[in-house]
Amino acid sequence: MEVPWLLVVHGLVTALVVVSFLCGQWPIFEGTFIQRIHQFLTFGAYHYLLRLVQAVCGNGARDLVLGVEQYCCDRPNPILQVPVTLHRYLSVLAVVVGSVLFVLTSFSDPGTVTHENVSQYVSSYPYDNIIYVEKECSTCKITRPARAKHCRICDRCVARFDHHCGWMNNCIGEKNTRYFVAFLVW
Ligand SMILES: *[C@@H]1O[C@H](CO)[C@@H](O)[C@H](O)[C@H]1NC(C)=O
Repeated sequence: MEVPWLLVVHGLVTALVVVSFLCGQWPIFEGTFIQRIHQFLTFGAYHYLLRLVQAVCGNGARDLVLGVEQYCCDRPNPILQVPVTLHRYLSVLAVVVGSVLFVLTSFSDPGTVTHENVSQYVSSYPYDNIIYVEKECSTCKITRPARAKHCRICDRCVARFDHHCGWMNNCIGEKNTRYFVAFLVW
């Protein structure tokens, strides 16, 4: 199989950012670039934003941003009074559940319409003859059920086709929309 390098690099960069953001302050990352990315994401970027706002819109705008920040983040908030150790477990949980949902969506069957099971799909997704009319897929040589679409990247007809997700290197269709939505929500 051809290795989609761009996708691999994209995945690694995403993983690096997520891990740096959530776990970068851990002692094992001390002095590494992971810690520096963490510092940039948590404080550095905000610092530069403030300087930019000040340079473009003046001191008043900067004070406004600072005021909003103080209102939202610095006042005691009972939800945020979680012990540090619990935060650590929560960050691991966030990464693990997110990764599992990502893998589930990437490798699950989106629901391919084949010669064998097309009739099953046609009865589940009947034509309304308004948007969905009976039409043959010229590539798969099957009469596509309503809401199915031929994906040119995967070269197959997918039931209740939503889109081809380049990120996940998979189509999102009938059978994996739930994992995809769960991933987005998570
Ligand atoms: C139809 O067959 C394809 C290929 O095996 C499979 O991916 C898909 O889930 C099947 N659909 C149903 C409803 O069984």
